[in-house]
Amino acid sequence: MKHKYLDKIKSLESSPKKINIFSVKEINMIKELYNMLPESTFNNKQNVRKKAWQKNFNKELDIIYFNRLKEALGDFKMDSLKSDKGEDYYGLFHESFAPLPMHVDSGFNEETIIYKQVITPLLGPGDTIFFKKRWYGRSTTFTIDKNELSFIPQEGQNDRSSAHIGTNEFDKEIHKKYLNHIDINNLKGMEVEMIYEWKIGESLIVDRTHVHCASSRIKNKKLGLTTFTKK
Ligand SMILES: [Fe+2]
Repeated sequence: MKHKYLDKIKSLESSPKKINIFSVKEINMIKELYNMLPESTFNNKQNVRKKAWQKNFNKELDIIYFNRLKEALGDFKMDSLKSDKGEDYYGLFHESFAPLPMHVDSGFNEETIIYKQVITPLLGPGDTIFFKKRWYGRSTTFTIDKNELSFIPQEGQNDRSSAHIGTNEFDKEIHKKYLNHIDINNLKGMEVEMIYEWKIGESLIVDRTHVHCASSRIKNKKLGLTTFTKK
């Protein structure tokens, strides 16, 4: 699959941007919401626990969150999955105990005009590494592992691809400091756009077409909230 409205998607692209849109109190409200929400999935393979932000658990916070995103993003629609009732989730909380692999969250629908994702760290330390490389196909996990590459995704699961690979050796210092959970040969030709060191109280706005992954810098666990948007 290739995204159909490529020109439009590209015209909306911009550099990653740090913003401060939530107060300490609001960050705490978001964490409390996380504790209240029912468990969605526990992905043993990726060692990540996910919860979806369902509306109406804290109506006041639903409104605050939506309005702050709107101030930062302009017009947008939620694109972070839907509930059984067809209601938009406001985001996905992910509590991880091991770093996530290199991937892109470009979605599963070729007709969607994918826009920004907003990452709000809630518990660190941690980093998200964004590469210069962009991807305009389906949500994909990037790997050179032959077994992984033969994986056949079910609905809602990432493709696997090694099409990100280029020729230049990856920066050894950056690999050692942030990415030692990834085979350096899986980073051939990749260049870093931004190393986002998580700061509680801050959010990062970044295009959904950027290839990214977590750094190896996880102490016990990290918790973040990501909202995917479309136009
Ligand atoms: Fe992601």
